[in-house]
Amino acid sequence: MRVHVLNGPNLGRLGRREPARYGSTTHAELAGSCRALGEELGLAVDVRQTDAEHELLRWLHGAADDGAAVVLNPAAWTHTSVALRDACAMLTAPLVEVHLTNVHAREPFRVHSFVSPVATASIVGCGVEGYALALRWLAMRGGS
Ligand code: DQA
Repeated sequence: MRVHVLNGPNLGRLGRREPARYGSTTHAELAGSCRALGEELGLAVDVRQTDAEHELLRWLHGAADDGAAVVLNPAAWTHTSVALRDACAMLTAPLVEVHLTNVHAREPFRVHSFVSPVATASIVGCGVEGYALALRWLAMRGGS
């Protein structure tokens, strides 16, 4: 199974970004551990991060065309982007929304997600382990 792990704005600064909240793992380390776990689970995993919304939309269009599963942390666009929601709605394979923090326990503007209604599953508040949980669940679930 092909899985795209896609990370939105400011997540490239993981490790340096508010470490007390988001942890000390860098994006490069997160990408490495997702790829390693993917190999273990028999998943073809690629990991990307962007601060440009149009780039994330293009990657989602590609995943829709390829029938690839997606693990998505849309970061701040979670709470703002109808375009992102519409791109997610085109996916045919499972979409797992991941947030490092428990967005329900933070500022009120983080509670609403444009992505959750079109996601297959959501994982919040588990830190970087949320990505591992998402990959393990996709492997358990099987399918395309
Ligand atoms: C986040 C939560 C969002 O509200 C925030 O804008 C982020 C990170 C998380 O992983 O906890 O950038 O998606």
